[in-house]
Amino acid sequence: MGPRRADGYHGLVTVFHAISLFEEVTAESADQDGVTVTGEGADRVPADQDNLALRAVTALRAAVGGAARAPGVHISITKRIPVAAGLAGGSADAAGALVACNELWHSGLDQQQLGAVAAKVGSDVTFALLGGTAVGRGRGERLTPALAPATAYHWVLAFADGQLSTPEVYAALDRLRASGAKAGHPEPSLDAALMTALRSGDATRVGRALSNDLQPAAVALFPALRKTLAAGLELGALGALVAGSGPTCAFLASNADRALDLAVSLSGAGVCRSVVRVTGPVPGTVILPDPKTAK
Ligand code: C5P
Repeated sequence: MGPRRADGYHGLVTVFHAISLFEEVTAESADQDGVTVTGEGADRVPADQDNLALRAVTALRAAVGGAARAPGVHISITKRIPVAAGLAGGSADAAGALVACNELWHSGLDQQQLGAVAAKVGSDVTFALLGGTAVGRGRGERLTPALAPATAYHWVLAFADGQLSTPEVYAALDRLRASGAKAGHPEPSLDAALMTALRSGDATRVGRALSNDLQPAAVALFPALRKTLAAGLELGALGALVAGSGPTCAFLASNADRALDLAVSLSGAGVCRSVVRVTGPVPGTVILPDPKTAK
């Protein structure tokens, strides 16, 4: 993670990894734009123009030539990814809205063109389109797919009893760095140990190489995470890290059985709100057949 830039963002080099926890996003023609949100944490998602999916609709409309080519749309979102959890759920909703509206409006944008619109909506939206495992640069929007064997990784996610705001976590990182002994501005670089581990496809090596520069900031704002991370490692995780800007903690297990054991023990340890098992990598945004017209 680099220093805060003049535009307020932090230049970074990161590895994105898409997991099997997904949202369902539907777009239907409507007189005017709107959004309905149901599911996990729906009451905490804005239902106005601040909604990331609606911002994506507006950005795509501007890119394809305005309201004549891109009339009103109602977006419905079924959430499974907790809100403000560090898992880019809002970015996934935005990516879903872009793909759905591109279909609905017959806009014909290709993946690269959609990616350019996605980058304007949020730093992680481009990856939510692409999925898989990818190296992100810039704000996170410049992506290179990571070449790696077809390993399925088994993760356990510990959802926290609370939320963290991404800008606040970045601001806490800036404060920690400004006050730290090693004050200065590290230039971001690709983590060679992690890339080697990913190329090997060996979960043990990947587990050892997991790290997140935002973790100390997330833990400073949400001290209970220290206990959650320690508990997962004590219970046999191959590695642990705060996901994104937190407060979700992600634990890597060696296989599906170990992941199940870990999930059961972690939820019994009382160090988080709830636990889910997921796998990765998975594709990014995919188009499902319309249940109303599918035979
Ligand atoms: O791009 P997005 O709107 O998702 O970013 C949310 C906030 O996270 C930004 O306003 C900024 O404070 C912070 N951020 C950052 N550096 C990045 C990505 C996000 O500082 N590379």
